[in-house]
Amino acid sequence: MEDSVIRNLWEEFHVPRNIRKHMEKVSDISIRLGKKLIDRGIDIDLKRLRQAALLHDLAKIVVCFDDIHKFEDNTKVEDIEVWNKLQTMYEGMKDSEITAMVLRNLNENHLAEIIRKHHFTSVIEEGNAPTTWEEKILYYADKLVMHDKEVTLRARLRDLDKRYSPDGDVPDAVKEAKKKARALEKEIETILAH
Ligand SMILES: [Fe+2]
Repeated sequence: MEDSVIRNLWEEFHVPRNIRKHMEKVSDISIRLGKKLIDRGIDIDLKRLRQAALLHDLAKIVVCFDDIHKFEDNTKVEDIEVWNKLQTMYEGMKDSEITAMVLRNLNENHLAEIIRKHHFTSVIEEGNAPTTWEEKILYYADKLVMHDKEVTLRARLRDLDKRYSPDGDVPDAVKEAKKKARALEKEIETILAH
């Protein structure tokens, strides 16, 4: 895929600036980790990883723009119209599934797979858990970024709890996903330590 296609998809989906920045940060971290793992002898397609990172939250705004006031300050009427249209078009789908579908339609099946498996609880879902290194790195790098700032996995997971379980009642699926995310971190750290 040409980089211009990524830019065009961002425009088509009216991806807000803050989400673009988030994806760029995740891309930077993915590449950094990918290069280190390549140094340890692991085979990783960095170009594909970078493109998946730059597109992984392409459709996020489509499923959550009702909360836009929380994180964006320059939304235009035209943006809302596009998101509304896209929301109707993809009703009931997770944002990662929407993006994967868009990419499959462009014959970008590898990118679609990497992105399909990046959402938080995919690690505990049959058939959705990241298995290739590109999938694992994107999943992990995404969990190291809060908005557009790099944080520790621990801080990010704590923030998820605060946001989604303010009463302290964390669902079992979330607990399980956190455990798997920590195990993935350990797997990567163990390789990098040698
Ligand atoms: Fe993300």
